[in-house]
Amino acid sequence: MASIASKELDNVKNLKDSLVRFMMTYKFALDEVNTKINILKQEFQYADDYNPIEHVTSRLKSPESIISKAYRKGFGLTLSAIKENIRDIAGIRITCSFISDIYKISRMLQSQKDITLIETKDYVKNPKPNGYRSVHLIIQIPVFMSDRVDHVFVEVQIRTIAMDFWASLEHKIYYKYDGEIPSELKEELTEAAFTALKLDEKMEKIHDQVNKIKEHNQF
Ligand code: GTP
Ligand code: MG
Repeated sequence: MASIASKELDNVKNLKDSLVRFMMTYKFALDEVNTKINILKQEFQYADDYNPIEHVTSRLKSPESIISKAYRKGFGLTLSAIKENIRDIAGIRITCSFISDIYKISRMLQSQKDITLIETKDYVKNPKPNGYRSVHLIIQIPVFMSDRVDHVFVEVQIRTIAMDFWASLEHKIYYKYDGEIPSELKEELTEAAFTALKLDEKMEKIHDQVNKIKEHNQF
């Protein structure tokens, strides 16, 4: 009897160990990408005297939401199925000043040798019907552990301040209404997304004009 109980205890310990190691790899991947973004930020500041990165936030998906997503999407409930199919366990959001900065940052990340681009969703060029805009990259990055190298997926969302302002309000309203936003509010939100788009375009124009004046003054 005692040996069965201790075997079971061993199993639970092993499962806990693998779960902790599993989540750790995502934390390390976030640390790595955060470091990369920090380097870009400081280098921009130093070299250009202009830093396009306004702020950066990152989050690890909670075990509860990982399991409920796997369940919702019908993926198997094994670590390897979760690892392969749920690619936003580690998520980073970069907020920048102008639309052109989104593509600049996106290109810089993609050109780094240890980053593999898996997927791009460009909701800036092709906004969602509700007006949501952002560029999403799914990247893969190696994490060097003591006994192996893990290739870990990270979702990077890049957006302007105006896009972020809209998305965070929409997200709050979405949850408030449990995903069923009343149609009148929905329309108003889509209108607000259009206003945010116009603001982004206007700001980009002003930014271009300032750059041209700066260039002109240098000669
Ligand atoms: P998930 O399976 O939920 O991750 O969606 P997906 O596979 O269709 O991915 P997609 O790239 O479209 O969206 C992923 C993330 O982008 C979401 O978890 C949100 O953070 C953000 N997002 C996408 N659409 C919207 C939207 O309409 N409103 C807001 N506020 N955020 C959105
Ligand atoms: Mg998601």
